[in-house]
Amino acid sequence: MKHIVVLISGNGSNLQAIIDACKQKKINGTISAVFSNKAEAFGLERAREAGIAAHALAASEFASREAFDRQLMQEIDAYAPDVVVLAGYMRILSPAFVARYSGRLLNIHPSLLPKYPGLHTHRQVLENGDEEHGTSVHFVTDELDGGPVILQAKVPVFEGDDEDDVTARVQHQEHAIYPLVVSWFLEDRLKMRHNAAWLDGVQLPPQGYAAE
Ligand code: GAR
Repeated sequence: MKHIVVLISGNGSNLQAIIDACKQKKINGTISAVFSNKAEAFGLERAREAGIAAHALAASEFASREAFDRQLMQEIDAYAPDVVVLAGYMRILSPAFVARYSGRLLNIHPSLLPKYPGLHTHRQVLENGDEEHGTSVHFVTDELDGGPVILQAKVPVFEGDDEDDVTARVQHQEHAIYPLVVSWFLEDRLKMRHNAAWLDGVQLPPQGYAAE
């Protein structure tokens, strides 16, 4: 059985989608542990509810980002994960952390990367009057939200939409594509090589699989 570790900071709806996909055997693997940098994250409740080990680490108890990540790595490594999945983990990673899990570290970002790296993507889409928005699953590299894209999902933006409408539409897509990508990875179909994503031995284009 392959092992997944998930990192969260909040609600954990993407975590829930992965929990459900494991239960339904859509993902051939098991979530061994969930870590949060926020003790109050609702995602930790979701993990406990599913019988998964749930841990919180408080950044305030560490002298530096590096020290926090060193502890986190030690605790993650105790579970010997095949993949580390960032699911709404809102903390910058140290280079040592990225290096440790390079090639088996996935993230989901709520924009059509390379558009809108960083925070407040939904707000920026509305402010700029974009007609199209979406989400991207990518391998994590040292460049913030800049690693090779694996899969994107697009959503329309309608006149009169507010941030909640757009967030809900994007998250609905996230809950479909993130479990799918995790399943590809655990079936050994997905690799990161030469700073690109490869699926079934084919290098994916910059927008990931199924660009249109
Ligand atoms: C998701 O929409 C994810 O794309 C975003 O946070 C949300 C977490 O929701 N991630 C980022 O913004 C990372 N930069 P969830 O806790 O309900 O899964």
